[in-house]
Amino acid sequence: MIKSILPLRAVELGYIANARTLLDGISLTINRGTFTVVLGPNGAGKSLLLRLLHGMLEPSTGTISWANGSSADRRRRQAMVFQRPVHLRRSVEANIVFALGALGIPRKDRSGLVQLALERAGLTAARRVHARLLSVGEQQRLSVARALAAEPDILFLDEPTASLDPVSVHRIETLLIEANARGTAIVLVTHDVSQARRVGQKIVFLHDGRINGQGPAPSFLDNPNSDVARAYLAGKIIV
Ligand SMILES: Nc1ncnc2c1ncn2[C@@H]1O[C@H](COP(=O)(O)OP(=O)(O)O)[C@@H](O)[C@H]1O
Ligand SMILES: [Mg+2]
Repeated sequence: MIKSILPLRAVELGYIANARTLLDGISLTINRGTFTVVLGPNGAGKSLLLRLLHGMLEPSTGTISWANGSSADRRRRQAMVFQRPVHLRRSVEANIVFALGALGIPRKDRSGLVQLALERAGLTAARRVHARLLSVGEQQRLSVARALAAEPDILFLDEPTASLDPVSVHRIETLLIEANARGTAIVLVTHDVSQARRVGQKIVFLHDGRINGQGPAPSFLDNPNSDVARAYLAGKIIV
């Protein structure tokens, strides 16, 4: 077992597409076991930033470096959850088994990890149900369970609760807080200030492709160190 792939260090990241600068000068460190919330309005560049950090897109400028592990280790030890759940046309259980197989987890180790993941997500009773028949809230719990099944060092989530009702939101937040307590670093993108307040340890406020204020969660949210963040947190429209 290699050491954690964290810290993750991003230095002066930029992303340019069609001659538009979409991200600029983003420097950020994600340490082991931390819970970071990337907060900001629609179009700020939150999803782009997550894709760069997760390695789905190459930055135009700047560097991303991990503390340990080969590139294969880095792929295996990080996971991503998107706003809309996407599952295979198989049972709940089979979806998690498949994900573990894709990560190269030996067959003999898979069933124990699957059971644990199902229990933690409250999906044990639904394990034989076709994944696409679950409610949206359950489907998203399955996405999170699947992403966490192999106990990654870091989990990225892009507005995972944006289309869920409050009870489903609460259950997802609980799963994330519990995983974080077991040592998985969480990077959660949201435009929801109250969610940032409930779960965040550190807030990074993104606006117009730049970090426009950051700090420890309660104090930053109560007293942000940037005017734009202050306006956003006060519920004002910012441009
Ligand atoms: N691959 C891409 N190519 C060109 N423009 C993009 C691409 N991805 C996103 N954008 C643009 O970048 C801006 C930020 O997008 P996004 O990261 O999705 O914002 P957010 O997630 O904060 O709502 C938007 O103006 C969007 O249209
Ligand atoms: Mg987005």
